[in-house]
Amino acid sequence: MIEVVVNSRNHEAEGICSYELTCAQGNPLPAFSAGAHIDVHLPGGLVRQYSLCNHPQERHRYLIGVLNDAASRGGSRCLHEQVQAGQRLRISAPRNLFELVPGASRSLLFAGGIGITPILAMAEQLWLQGDLFELHYCARSIERAAFLERLAGAPFASRVHLHFDENPASRLDAAQVLARPGADDHLYVCGPAGFMQHVLDTARDQGWPQAQLHREYFAATPVETANDGAFSVRLGSTGQVFEIPADKTVVQVLESHGVSIAVSCEQGVCGTCLTRVLDGVPEHRDLYLTEDEQAANDQFTPCCSRAKSAVLVLDL
Ligand code: FES
Repeated sequence: MIEVVVNSRNHEAEGICSYELTCAQGNPLPAFSAGAHIDVHLPGGLVRQYSLCNHPQERHRYLIGVLNDAASRGGSRCLHEQVQAGQRLRISAPRNLFELVPGASRSLLFAGGIGITPILAMAEQLWLQGDLFELHYCARSIERAAFLERLAGAPFASRVHLHFDENPASRLDAAQVLARPGADDHLYVCGPAGFMQHVLDTARDQGWPQAQLHREYFAATPVETANDGAFSVRLGSTGQVFEIPADKTVVQVLESHGVSIAVSCEQGVCGTCLTRVLDGVPEHRDLYLTEDEQAANDQFTPCCSRAKSAVLVLDL
């Protein structure tokens, strides 16, 4: 855990603020690579992940961009309403689940809305390395697009393509941008689920292999829970069995019996709670595992995923 001070807070776009964090003890912060995020421990106990969007070579600060999302489960609202310059916060060291692949012949970066944050750090890194890349930034309107000034002043400004919904002529033609993928091309996408799905589906249609597609979700899409049923969970170590009722998650039930599983996003996005499944078939509801990893059925995210079989035996 690192104690940081909010050095400054800036309005970046409609509903988006950036927060510059510096070490409370004045030390350099741990190094990070493009695409990394930190856990931010918020007043009131929530823990949320935010991508680092400053230059990955910087050690004197971390910069995060936060959208005050109407669908917020409390994290972004808390930051916007309660966290001001001068305040102290605790954060984790950076972790990276969205790394650039070294040696790509070309990298295509796609950002939707606040999804620009990890993509910005990626663009800085690729430019530093002298790599070939282009950045496509989609937003509803110019007023809702953050960091435009920084992008316009960046040495890689000519590689940035802006697409605004309000201007149909500027809209992203994903099929055209993604046509004819090279063997060492890599695609990175971050943003709202529908936007990401569109980019990834188009890439697959254009012949992009799965291994060249990389994505990071910010939030899960709502899942239909009306037909959820109960199931049982057995702990591999002790054989204890717990009933998981329709309205509770595995994490909630186990926690209430003193079996703690580390969680962070609590919606299947971050992978913190990933748990090995020794027997039974999970019903995957996460966005963290790839389709192949889900199909293997040997791990699941107990913060949100459930079971297709009557019993799941967990490696706990
Ligand atoms: Fe993030 Fe479960 S806590 S995936």
